[in-house]
Amino acid sequence: MVSIVITGRGGAGKTTLSANLSTYFSRGGYRSLVVDGDLYLPKLAFHFGIYNPQYNIHTLLKNPNMRVVDAVYHDPKTKVDILPGSSKLYDVIDLDQKRLREIVREIGTRYRVTIIDSPVGIPFDTISTFRLAQYQLIIVEIERCPIHSVHRMIENEVVKLKSLGDAYGLKVGVILNKVRESSRSVDDIIDFLEYSVDVPVVGVIPFDHRVPEATNYGRPVLDYAPHTKASRAIAESGDILNGWIFGREKKEGMLHRFYEAIISFLHSGRVPAGKKL
Ligand SMILES: Nc1ncnc2c1ncn2[C@@H]1O[C@H](COP(=O)(O)OP(=O)(O)OP(=O)(O)O)[C@@H](O)[C@H]1O
Ligand SMILES: [Mg+2]
Repeated sequence: MVSIVITGRGGAGKTTLSANLSTYFSRGGYRSLVVDGDLYLPKLAFHFGIYNPQYNIHTLLKNPNMRVVDAVYHDPKTKVDILPGSSKLYDVIDLDQKRLREIVREIGTRYRVTIIDSPVGIPFDTISTFRLAQYQLIIVEIERCPIHSVHRMIENEVVKLKSLGDAYGLKVGVILNKVRESSRSVDDIIDFLEYSVDVPVVGVIPFDHRVPEATNYGRPVLDYAPHTKASRAIAESGDILNGWIFGREKKEGMLHRFYEAIISFLHSGRVPAGKKL
C-alpha cells in the first residue's frame, strides 16, 4: 500500500490532480482510493459526479462506530474508489482531524494506491496522514509574472511545503499545473526547483479548457477527454510517479521483454541467455 498526499496553494489544481492521478493508477491496474482531506471545502466527489453523499468522511469522523467501507463510493467507469466529504456546514463543525489518519489507515490497507487531497496551503486537516504517507506532491500554478518573482513565490510556497514532507520522511515532487508560459520560462523554473530548491519536477500540465469542462460534467479529464493535451501530460506525470513508486514494474510486460530482447540482440549480435525470440 502506498499513500500520496497532494498539497499546494488555493486553486492550483490539487483536487483535479487527485481525481486524475487516482484514475491513472486505477487504469494501470492498481486498486486505487482517493480521499477528500479538504474537510472544510470538500469538492473531490464532484469530479466523479457524486453530489451530497449521505455517508462521507465527516459522518465517519463523527461516528467512530461506523464502518469506513460504508462511506466509500465506487466509480464504475474509472474503477476508482472515492471517500468523499460532506458539504453541509453543520458536518464541518467540531471535527477531530486526527481521526482522519485512523480512517485512512483502516481503509488504505485494501488499496495499492491511496491519494489524499489536501486543503489549501499548510494542510492542517491532513497533516495527521503525513505519518502514513510515503509521497507528497506539491501542485504549483505559475503566475504570469517576471521570472525573479516566480522564484520568490516558489521559495515562499514550495520550500515550506517541502520541509513539511521532509520532516515526515516523505519523497517530495512538484507538478506544475495550468502552464501557459513559454517553454524557456518553464525550463528556467524547473532548473530553479531541481537545483536550488532540490525538489524534482514530475510533471508539467498545460492550461486546458477541457479540464474545467470535464469537472462540470462530473468526470476526471483523463476519462472525459483522454487525448486532450492536459490528459496526455497528466498520464506522463503518472508514468513518472509509477516509476518512482513501483520501479519498472509497469514496463515489465511481455511486449517490453520482447522489445528488450530485440534491442539486446541488435547490440550483441545474438539472443541474450534465457530469452527466446
Ligand atoms: N490544467 C488545467 N487547465 C485548466 N484549468 C484547470 C487545470 N487544472 C485545474 N484547473 C481548474 O482550476 C480550478 C481549480 O482547480 P482545483 O479545484 O483542482 O484546485 P485546488 O487546488 O483543489 O483548489 P482549492 O484550494 O480550492 O481546493 C478548477 O476550476 C479546475 O477545473
Ligand atoms: Mg481542492
